[in-house]
Amino acid sequence: MTTTNPASLRPLAVVTGASAGLGREFSRQLAERGFDLLLVARDADRLRALADELALQHGVHAEAWPADLSRDDGMRTLAEHLKALDRVMVLVNNAGFGTKGKLATRPVGEQATMLELHVMAPMLLTRAVLPGMIERREGRIITVASVASFTASPGNVNYCATKAYQRVFMEALAMEVAGTGVQVQALCPGFTHTEFHDRMQIDKTKGIPSWAWLTADRVVRESLDAAFGDGPVVVIPGKRYRGVVFALRHMPMWVRGLMQERYGRARI
Ligand SMILES: NC(=O)c1ccc[n+]([C@@H]2O[C@H](COP(=O)([O-])OP(=O)(O)OC[C@H]3O[C@@H](n4cnc5c(N)ncnc54)[C@H](OP(=O)(O)O)[C@@H]3O)[C@@H](O)[C@H]2O)c1
Repeated sequence: MTTTNPASLRPLAVVTGASAGLGREFSRQLAERGFDLLLVARDADRLRALADELALQHGVHAEAWPADLSRDDGMRTLAEHLKALDRVMVLVNNAGFGTKGKLATRPVGEQATMLELHVMAPMLLTRAVLPGMIERREGRIITVASVASFTASPGNVNYCATKAYQRVFMEALAMEVAGTGVQVQALCPGFTHTEFHDRMQIDKTKGIPSWAWLTADRVVRESLDAAFGDGPVVVIPGKRYRGVVFALRHMPMWVRGLMQERYGRARI
């Protein structure tokens, strides 16, 4: 069972951060849509279990590719592999994490890891698949940014900054690939039920109202419907969040500052 088998006639999708949360859901829904899968994350056991499950359920090839994408060797080896495969139809840059606390108190290594994972890895992987997609005049690249990409908040300095990079990276790339048959998307979800907040030991029942939570199923469905249906470059799942982003983009800086002081501790 290997997606590197060029004999497969199914299109190939690569999902980073596939072992949990949104990445797991992307993998599931892409398998439903008939894609072979290359599943990437650090937890090899979870990836293999998911690959076997999806292969059995949907009759696709699914391969686990365990890698730490915050490490130079992890991201570069995968990028080389994708380039050599030359048949990636969908790339989902999804792997990511958040941290809790002000920059001055956080370990510098952890913050550097975030920049490698959120900035360098998506850039290298996108660069690896892009020429093949342009040549074949077909391909989709989705990078999972966040509603946080539209704001800046204390305790979230590098998270907001790296998510803004991801969104702007996709927006600018969309202009470059216009007319080539390649579509790119910056997916900007708000609070979504995954392992993201648990990994930060944030109590999800405190401070974030229940109406604010989205399901991974819904976020991924809106993303893929847009990606395969000529949707916008920036996809913000849920009407409420589209309203939040509209307000963030148009409110004066001083009002935004006041709101950040008051609500800025929430992480999305
Ligand atoms: N949940 C939300 O509220 C929310 C809102 C907006 C945006 N997002 C974004 O959505 C994306 C997915 O997060 P999620 O909510 O699905 O969180 P999650 O459930 O914690 O999943 C994160 C995934 O990233 C993988 N990952 C983390 N570090 C990695 C590394 N160094 N190398 C390779 N893979 C790594 C994890 O797998 P391993 O541990 O096995 O490596 C896991 O598969 C992130 O980019 C996040 O910023 C989330």
